[in-house]
Amino acid sequence: MTKLSFSARKIKDASQARTQCAILPVFSKKTLSVAARQLDKASAGAVTAAIRLGDFTGKSGQSCMLPGVGGNKRLLLVGCGDKGKFDRAAARELGKTVSKALANSEASEAILYSADLELQDGDSRWLLCWLARHFTCAAYRYTQTLSKPKPAAKLARLVVEPGSLGSAAAGKALDRGAAMGRGVNEARELANLPGNICTPSYLAQHARKLGREQANLSVSVLEEKKMKELGMGSLLSVSAGSDQPAKLVVMHYKGGKAGQKPYVLVGKGITFDSGGISIKPGAKMDEMKFDMGGAASVFGTLRTVTELQLPINVVGIVAAAENMPSGSATKPGDVVTSMAGKTIEVLNTDAEGRLVLCDALTYAGRFQPRVVIDIATLTGACVVALGSHATGLYANEDKLAEELLAAGTESHDRAWRMPLWEDYQKQLDSNFADIANIGGPGGGSITAACFLARFAEDYHWAHLDIAGTAWDSAPKGATGRPVAMLSQYLIEQAG
Ligand code: BES
Ligand code: MN
Ligand code: ZN
Repeated sequence: MTKLSFSARKIKDASQARTQCAILPVFSKKTLSVAARQLDKASAGAVTAAIRLGDFTGKSGQSCMLPGVGGNKRLLLVGCGDKGKFDRAAARELGKTVSKALANSEASEAILYSADLELQDGDSRWLLCWLARHFTCAAYRYTQTLSKPKPAAKLARLVVEPGSLGSAAAGKALDRGAAMGRGVNEARELANLPGNICTPSYLAQHARKLGREQANLSVSVLEEKKMKELGMGSLLSVSAGSDQPAKLVVMHYKGGKAGQKPYVLVGKGITFDSGGISIKPGAKMDEMKFDMGGAASVFGTLRTVTELQLPINVVGIVAAAENMPSGSATKPGDVVTSMAGKTIEVLNTDAEGRLVLCDALTYAGRFQPRVVIDIATLTGACVVALGSHATGLYANEDKLAEELLAAGTESHDRAWRMPLWEDYQKQLDSNFADIANIGGPGGGSITAACFLARFAEDYHWAHLDIAGTAWDSAPKGATGRPVAMLSQYLIEQAG
């Protein structure tokens, strides 16, 4: 993949700049920006002529590519709507319109005349961060298992105007956005890989590779033998029916002071969820390769954190296993003992995410965490409740919940808080164990979170149910959520 690079540069006179593609935002009502007027003059009125034709009115979502304008090989006019209503939503639309228009262009570098883009509900920092992230994500192509992959995007360099910001601050915002975008893409790539390639061992290998690349990232992998010694009977009950051994991957990023308590991220890494003996129906079962989306987001967030070298400590834990039926698989009614000592009646082997996560959450306690956040494609019920726009957020502490919600809003990778009330806990009562692994038909996402809460009592904890947000079904592909939210949260924590 071509690595897209960004830079911020003040451009006094657009008619003097030479580029393969000048990207010119135009508001409706045809009030031309300074750059637009300069380019119009340099091209004997090409811009105003295009507008006069009436095909391009500056409406949001519109674009118009003109060849050879001034010293530029191309000029892309992009509609931005009403200047007085230009907000973050309109800026996101602008990004999408530009990347769509450039997708089939041969231009390998471009200048985006962004100086006049003043947000009604944000600043240039947000805008530049968003643009860098958006264009980085738009350049992503899945190629690994295609014999004839779609051609890579041509764009390799994008220059933007710093607007009201100084060049240094603008560069920082671009770096941040690009690092977030690469984190998102990392998560997408891992999650898109098929289950026969992306096994628990593959995730462990991938982590080891990251550890070799990064000086302040140390990686260790707990094998099944070690997990057995630690008493992780719940996690191991999930991999019992699979030929693929489970792995508990621990990645320790040390960007802060030695004694500083770490932020711990715990990802559900079910590399394929057949349901086990409580086997799933066939329709869309292929999508259960995405059941390691939580794990993928831990890898992605760590990529962003390491690229930015944030001055904090972060531990990423990935609970990786494959959920399969076989003669050695866990059966409905089996009782297993978790690392915390609590016994669990496995009433449904398809509720396996919580079974791997509970032991990983207990293990997370060792790091004396500042907070623990688990991320999991945990329940179909969450998709029923929130659809595909919001991640379900649960937390045993209000400040953490509010910070994550705010980070989600800021990065437009949003979550919605759900209740963890004691009232729901009764649904997990079992006659044969301390707790059952399913809570009946009502409130399935909530009772799954309530199950996890019982293993996260010793620290501040949040749980993100990303079942509806981790991937799209049409066109099928991983979204990389919630890497942006988590990165934003950690960036803010790092100060
Ligand atoms: N990985 C699934 C959750 C899921 C299902 C995510 C569909 C996205 C789309 C999880 O392991 C699961 O199977 N959960 C069960 C729980 C039930 C047995 C209590 C579910 O949601 O049906
Ligand atoms: Mn399942
Ligand atoms: Zn699952």
